[in-house]
Amino acid sequence: MSVDQKMDSGRRQLLVATSAAGGVAAVATAVPFVASLTPSERAKAAGAPVEADISKLAPGEMMTVEWRGKPVWILRRTPEMLASLDKTDAAVSDPESAKEMQPEYAKNKSRSIKPEYLVTVGICTHLGCSPSDKFKVGADSGMGDDWHGGFLCPCHGSKFDLSGRVYKSMPAPDNLEVPPHKYLSDTTILIGDDSKA
Ligand code: FES
Repeated sequence: MSVDQKMDSGRRQLLVATSAAGGVAAVATAVPFVASLTPSERAKAAGAPVEADISKLAPGEMMTVEWRGKPVWILRRTPEMLASLDKTDAAVSDPESAKEMQPEYAKNKSRSIKPEYLVTVGICTHLGCSPSDKFKVGADSGMGDDWHGGFLCPCHGSKFDLSGRVYKSMPAPDNLEVPPHKYLSDTTILIGDDSKA
């Protein structure tokens, strides 16, 4: 073996040793880094926004996603459901959500960014029970002939329409909460973040 070959061999071993040490260091730092970025349950509980895929939600159907430990309902309203809001307008206590601290896009009849989709927290504003959906209308609903579809809280009987607007003279003082949210695409809603950036 020539002198050059010996040097090359020595340099190679040195390089191997260095990269091995570098590899160990990289692994050691990568573990906590990855752990901190994984959208774990812990992070969700702390308030991380949650993405909802609404691509499979058919008209008239509702899905629930969990955000900050709360159920968030996403209801895809049919044209008939949207038309019912005109009928309930005079019967609800705060038709434009004017008195509540809610996002600007909740301050209208449909209480939504896109009228087709209602996004609301499924917790009664009285004492925190979870209302049931009552989407059937009229006598079939069991809610009376003049029921236009909505939600009923089983605890003390508060009724809400298909925009989550509470009817007048109910125990619940306010409309259901509309959480901050925005559309990332036509089929994905981000719950918990409505920043423009
Ligand atoms: S908790 Fe809903 S009516 Fe009381």
